[in-house]
Amino acid sequence: MPECARPDLSRFDPFSADFQQCPSPWYRALRSAAPVHLVPEYGLWFVTSRALVQHALERPEVFSSRFGQPQSASSPAVAGQVAAIRAEGWPTVPTILTEDPPAHHRFRQLVARAFTPRLVARQEPGIRRLCAELFDTVATGEEVEFVSRFAVPFPIAVIADVLGVDRDRLPDLTRWSRALAESIGARVDDESELANARSTLEFQRFFANQLDQRRTDPREDVLTGLVNAHRDTAQVTDEALSTAESLSIITQLLVAGNETTAKLLTSLLHELGRSPRLWAWLREDPLTRADPLVEEALRLHSPVQGMFRVLTRSTELGGVELPAGARVVLCFASANRDAPDSTHPDVLDPERGDGAGHLAFGHGIHYCLGAPLARLQTRVALRELAARVDSISLTGRDDRYTPSFLLHGLSTLHCRLTPSD
Ligand code: HEM
Repeated sequence: MPECARPDLSRFDPFSADFQQCPSPWYRALRSAAPVHLVPEYGLWFVTSRALVQHALERPEVFSSRFGQPQSASSPAVAGQVAAIRAEGWPTVPTILTEDPPAHHRFRQLVARAFTPRLVARQEPGIRRLCAELFDTVATGEEVEFVSRFAVPFPIAVIADVLGVDRDRLPDLTRWSRALAESIGARVDDESELANARSTLEFQRFFANQLDQRRTDPREDVLTGLVNAHRDTAQVTDEALSTAESLSIITQLLVAGNETTAKLLTSLLHELGRSPRLWAWLREDPLTRADPLVEEALRLHSPVQGMFRVLTRSTELGGVELPAGARVVLCFASANRDAPDSTHPDVLDPERGDGAGHLAFGHGIHYCLGAPLARLQTRVALRELAARVDSISLTGRDDRYTPSFLLHGLSTLHCRLTPSD
């Protein structure tokens, strides 16, 4: 596990390994010295206190979500080739995550119709089955790499079922999801950027074709929901989603749903492997203790560390005058640790009692639409783990965090899960 560097705010660089491998000391230093802090090289303002992050989230008319794509800009060396590949596909249009009211309202209603709590609840038996099948292969007592063997495939298989994509396309979904997420808050090399652009085009062609099929052959799935959603929402709009809009929404469901849930599952296993006390505590009563543990892991290890906003007009925030057009990063992860020292905000304590008060799923009009699904999957996984595994040992390879300042979690986690007798 990486060592934490001593934070020196004059050198604060969100793309540095020092920050990405160990962000919490930096957040603490930012909160105490400058909770609204400009990083001039990138023109990004980092907002780190709970009150200011929440204040901004409650003012979408000033803190706009029309920030474009969270992916980093193309490197000049391949920008032309990337643009040519993109021109063969559908344009990236702002939808739910990257749009403001009133358009955001339309997208949110349409997606919420396709992605109903009933549909999520109906997934539970399938999710349990999937989880049990995967644990059959990882909880064997042999050393495994948990991220690639469980934490990534599990949410991808769940989202495939929710979208209505056949299981034999899981390897493609995994590849596409990776390609879409890889450059979020990160720098990638030119070769990977080209490969990601090609994967994204493949992804678009596949899903455009699936949407066409649902128009003539509707099923009980989210893709059919997206094709038909406008029919149920006459009060919002009669306008059907265009293919480009639907593709953008599917991208957001894939990226927002897979990488995030995978990172939460990995952080949970890591914590349980590090603390025999916590593991014993969960195993005593997994039915009631899984939920508070999930909330506490969301708070302490927020998989989405922050999200961009762009200012529609100049405004004052925490005593700092921000100009119109300024790009800010609202740091949910830092806000979640912004509490008096006496409450030990840097310690994982599922019994602290104020669990769900965190901002790990955001807050306000962009609050995560997938939160019930993410919670369901992690709860099922924890209960299954507690029921069938006797001990977790971390086998101590060089496991490191994903190089990103927006997504946070280990990229690999080597461990041995010894089954109960
Ligand atoms: C929005 C976190 C899982 C779909 C968000 C936001 C956060 C977040 C912080 C708000 C972003 C903002 O304010 O700009 C997470 C975490 C997850 C998770 C930590 C797992 C542990 C999921 C899943 C799905 C999903 C499983 C669906 C399959 C969405 C969508 C939005 C969103 C569609 C946009 C909502 C809007 O803009 O109105 N998520 N998410 N998320 N999430 Fe999640």
